[in-house]
Amino acid sequence: MNLPSFLWLWKIAAWSMGLSITGYLLLAFSGIYLWKNRTEKKPRPSWLRPFHWITGTILVILILILLSIGLMGTIGYYGSLGHSWHLPAGLTVVTLVLLSAWTSTQIHPSRPWARKLHVNVNIALFFALLAVGLTGLFVVQKYLP
Ligand code: HEM
Ligand code: HEM
Repeated sequence: MNLPSFLWLWKIAAWSMGLSITGYLLLAFSGIYLWKNRTEKKPRPSWLRPFHWITGTILVILILILLSIGLMGTIGYYGSLGHSWHLPAGLTVVTLVLLSAWTSTQIHPSRPWARKLHVNVNIALFFALLAVGLTGLFVVQKYLP
């Protein structure tokens, strides 16, 4: 990739991040809605569960796209990785989102830990997303004209 700059790549990153944050918020609202219906023993609308897991799958895909953009862009520019706190923050987000998706497949009345872990991992994911977003906005400055 011999382009004047990687700006176009970081623009895709910024847009994907916007979509990821939107996805996270939709997951938080639909997750709280799932939880409310369960604790109040109300029937849940039939669209709610598929909505939650389809949005979740989209979030996982977006984060993996962001990971590959970050890795490709950094290797293309520097030829190596690990130039800021953005790397550990990014790897944390990827780990947590995969853990969240895995715990969601384990949610079942016979495994009460799975639901608890799913919720706690997603609270941690909030802070990790905040960290990766802020460090990402910080490192993107040097690519701006
Ligand atoms: C990473 C992608 C995600 C997937 C694939 C996923 C999937 C699931 C599934 C299958 C359930 C079980 C629904 C049921 O009880 O039938 C669930 C529950 C839940 N999820 Fe997610 N989820 C994801 C991300 C999130 C995020 C980011 C949040 C919050 C910010 C969240 C919050 C919740 C909550 C609060 C519940 C309900 C727990 C309860 O009933 O006490 N999820 N999720
Ligand atoms: C979930 C979201 C994200 C993940 C998982 C992620 C992941 C990564 C990773 C693993 C790297 C390599 C870092 C290194 O080796 O030093 C990287 C680099 C980079 N990312 Fe991200 N990233 C995310 C969001 C963002 C956002 C929102 C921006 C801002 C637009 C951004 C801009 C950059 C830039 C400019 C670099 C080059 C690093 C440098 O010049 O030091 N990233 N990303």
